[in-house]
Amino acid sequence: MYYKNDPLFPKNFMWGASSSAWQVEGAVNEDGRTSAIIDINSKKKKPYTDNSITADHYHRYKEDVKLMAEAGFSSYRFSISWPRIYPDASGVPNQKGIEFYNNLINELKKYNIEPIVTLYHYDMPVWVDEMFNGWYDRGIIEKFDEYVRTCFREFGDRVKYWLSINEQNMQICYGEWLGVCKNKDTWFEDKWKVNHIMNLCHAKAVIACHELVEGGKIGPVPGYVPIYPYSANPEDQIAAMNAEELTEKVWNDLYAHRKYNGFIQSYWKENNINPGIQEGDMELIEQAKIDFFALNCYRSNTAKACDINEEPQEYLLNKSGVKGNLIFPKVPGLYQLTYNPFVEYTDWDWEIDPVAIRYMLRYVWDHYQLPMMITENGYGAYDKVSPDGKVHDPERIKFLRDQIYQMGLAIMDGCEVISYNLWSFTDLLSTGNGMAKRYGLVYINTTDEELLDLKRIPKDSYYWYSNLIKSNGRNW
Ligand code: BG6
Repeated sequence: MYYKNDPLFPKNFMWGASSSAWQVEGAVNEDGRTSAIIDINSKKKKPYTDNSITADHYHRYKEDVKLMAEAGFSSYRFSISWPRIYPDASGVPNQKGIEFYNNLINELKKYNIEPIVTLYHYDMPVWVDEMFNGWYDRGIIEKFDEYVRTCFREFGDRVKYWLSINEQNMQICYGEWLGVCKNKDTWFEDKWKVNHIMNLCHAKAVIACHELVEGGKIGPVPGYVPIYPYSANPEDQIAAMNAEELTEKVWNDLYAHRKYNGFIQSYWKENNINPGIQEGDMELIEQAKIDFFALNCYRSNTAKACDINEEPQEYLLNKSGVKGNLIFPKVPGLYQLTYNPFVEYTDWDWEIDPVAIRYMLRYVWDHYQLPMMITENGYGAYDKVSPDGKVHDPERIKFLRDQIYQMGLAIMDGCEVISYNLWSFTDLLSTGNGMAKRYGLVYINTTDEELLDLKRIPKDSYYWYSNLIKSNGRNW
């Protein structure tokens, strides 16, 4: 629908930003924390930096929270590091790790900033990985349950919004990149077994949250990339629906309807895949009623038909930051992705498409009728400190303005959206581009090549966002 006036946001709308533990904290060997798989994984991606320091939020969280408060934040989405809470298999939680998150939560509460907490954002403890071969062995379910229950007991008196597993769909779709896949040769079938175990962990977290946190609400965090058909060719429409199923809808249907949908059951049958469902599993999943969807959305994709006789092609993402360095996937008989002639692209070949966020919110609302919050949305770029000592990031401001405006239109369209948390508050470690690909509202003075003083420099986008949120979305 077209509206004559700018969109209006609900009175108690929560505005904030987002991060994850391994990308922002640093202090990887301090106060009892042991290694996570992502520490090792991110080191492999050198020449980019590893996560031993990143933004040093572990030591500077007070300064960071103060900057959030000055900007007028009403929410902050962050994650808890599993190896900080359980550094080993002893079953004894690490008090120093608990203390850090208590301090962070209390600091946020001091400024009336609502904590929105992710339980798992890619940082599985190495001891868990070794004991259970990552997510491959069902033994992980009990350990995950033990960890999340500790989080709920320790922090549930103050944290009321919980998120289960960050981008489970992306971890399965990009298993190798995110360190979940252990054997490329058998991943085609293994991924569904791994995914089922993750679903059981998600279900356990939902059940435990409702049991242990008074007034607690919990939801999943899909990484959402809306898929458009390339043309009005009906076959392209079906291809877009196939891509939507195999990258998003299968997960979202499971979370919301608590069963595997007909599409994936046919896909498994057609491909002789056994997803490893055991007696009692679906009864457990059935009990895990989510309260909302947390959505990470940066871009859109475009799909067209792919003949069954085409050669399959894996998705090779652009990790270099030089435009044109990606290879789109081909899934014969289902879909292939392609460039969209109607949108611009970032240096990493990510579609710059503000309408995607409106489309996504409309789609998720229409399918599931659950409240939604945005937990990631942002613009990664090579920012620099100018000779005037400031960081001018007009492209980020334009990106955010357009995206937030479209979110506002979705709200006007009737979608229930309760919070917006852009990625990211400070610059932090990117999944594949170290500190070079910066998303923050606040610049962190360091580089991949050289550790500098880590000074916080609010960028132009920080001031712009602050102005917008202090007016509850009136000052564009
Ligand atoms: C999201 C992840 O998918 O994308 C974040 O949840 C990640 O952890 C973000 O940092 C941006 O991706 P990248 O590769 O640019 O860091």
